[in-house]
Parts: sequence; structure tokens; C-alpha cells
Amino acid sequence: MIEPRDPLLSVEALVTGYGNKQVLNSISVQVAPGEIVALIGHNGAGKSTLLKAIFGLLPIWQGKISFQGKVLRSAHPSQLRRQGVVYVPQGSRVFADFTVGENLEMGGLIISNQMRIQEGIERVLTLFPSLKSRWYQKAATLSGGEKQMLALATALILSPRLLLLDEPSLGLAPRILSQAFALIQQINADLNVAVLIVEQKVREVLKIAHYVYVLRNGRVSSSGTPARFDDTKLWQVYL
Ligand SMILES: Nc1ncnc2c1ncn2[C@@H]1O[C@H](COP(=O)(O)OP(=O)(O)O)[C@@H](O)[C@H]1O
Ligand SMILES: [Mg+2]
Repeated sequence: MIEPRDPLLSVEALVTGYGNKQVLNSISVQVAPGEIVALIGHNGAGKSTLLKAIFGLLPIWQGKISFQGKVLRSAHPSQLRRQGVVYVPQGSRVFADFTVGENLEMGGLIISNQMRIQEGIERVLTLFPSLKSRWYQKAATLSGGEKQMLALATALILSPRLLLLDEPSLGLAPRILSQAFALIQQINADLNVAVLIVEQKVREVLKIAHYVYVLRNGRVSSSGTPARFDDTKLWQVYL
């Protein structure tokens, strides 16, 4: 018997695209509270498009997206951030001309309570101690891995319930890859935040995911627990 998973995020038969070009074709994806869910699939399959649609950056043509049981209608990113959804786009975007400290403070901008911003910053500095010593350093001078860390840390200031990560491993040196995935696993466990993660590094992401969706041409071609795809490399069949 398959246990029904009580979803934090539920995407049902979603259709969307850009202009008049349809990209997602009736996609359904669920994320349970505290779960790490991986989205894998070839370039152009629609993975980033799905994350953008969930974060309210694209219009919903058909289907629906619910968060914590409430349907998100024409949701705006700032509303979603208030409700506990944060999005870290592909390419570890940080404000290059600002210092590490300023970037972190901007992560808390939508919180009006200064105490809560301070608490958020202290919490993420415990997770990312190396950012503490770089507080006054311009973000432009950080390495790729450090920028990715800063982008993640900034997203976590708001104590999100759901973290949307688009290829966090992109551009990281091979030697720090496993560290990056371990960190995502630690964030998930320590902060009890659910993670919907898009990754090309399939082997690594299968190690930390609780559930996997394979996307192909804007559709879910397969889904299941990582064990289902793991050693047999079955996922390759669905790509
Ligand atoms: N801003 C955009 N405008 C028009 N088409 C886009 C845009 N971004 C992505 N696409 C198209 O949508 C499809 C899915 O892209 P994307 O979601 O980025 O794929 P993935 O993240 O899986 O590599 C591709 O055909 C891509 O060319
Ligand atoms: Mg992408």
C-alpha cells in the first residue's frame, strides 16, 4: 500500500509557458512537509519553468498550485516569501557590490521586526560559519561556492517552510560538490525546511532526496523514491 503523503506543496495538472509558447503540459508534483524532493531531467525539460511557476513568476494557464492547503491564485513572489516559500534561482545570484553582511540583511527585508532579522542572521551564521568571517567582504570577491552559500543563507533568513533550489551545484568545483549536498541535507534536517531541488548531478541528489520526479518534455515521465531509480540507473530510461 502506498501511504498518502499529506502535501505542503501540491501542483496539480499545471500548464504554463512563456508568451504563447506552452512549456509545462499537465504537471503534478507534491512536496510533503520536511521532505527533500528532487526534480531531474534533460536540459529544456521544464524544471526551471516549474520552479518559476510555483514562485509566482509565471502565470498559471491551467491546473492549480496549493501551499499548506490553500490555492495560490495569481500569487506574487513577495506574498509567497511571507508565507514561507523562498526561491534560489539558477546561478547563485547575490548582490555583488554589497558586502556579505548587507546581502544577509537584505534577505530579511520583508520582515519588519528587527529582532527577527537578527535572529535569522544568527541562525544562518551558525550553519555557515565561514560567512561570519567574511561579513565585510564584497560579495563579488567570493568564490563560486561561497556565493552559492551566501545565496542559500540569504534565503534562509526568513525561516522558510519550503526552499525552491534551482541547480545549486552548478559551477561548484567537483571537490566541494558532496559538501554542498551535505549542507542541503543539514539545512533540511536542522531547520525542518522542505526542499524542492532541481539538479543535473543526479547521483548526488538521489542520495539526499526522499522522493524524485523525472521530467521530460514538460511532463512527469516517472516518479518514486530514490531506491526505485538508484543502482539500476533506471532514471536514465525516463530522461
Ligand atoms: N524566458 C523564456 N522565454 C521563452 N522560452 C523559455 C524561457 N525560459 C525557458 N524557455 C523554454 O522553456 C523550455 C524549458 O526550459 P527550462 O524550464 O529552463 O528547462 P530546464 O530547467 O529543465 O533545463 C525550453 O524549451 C526553453 O527554451
Ligand atoms: Mg533549468
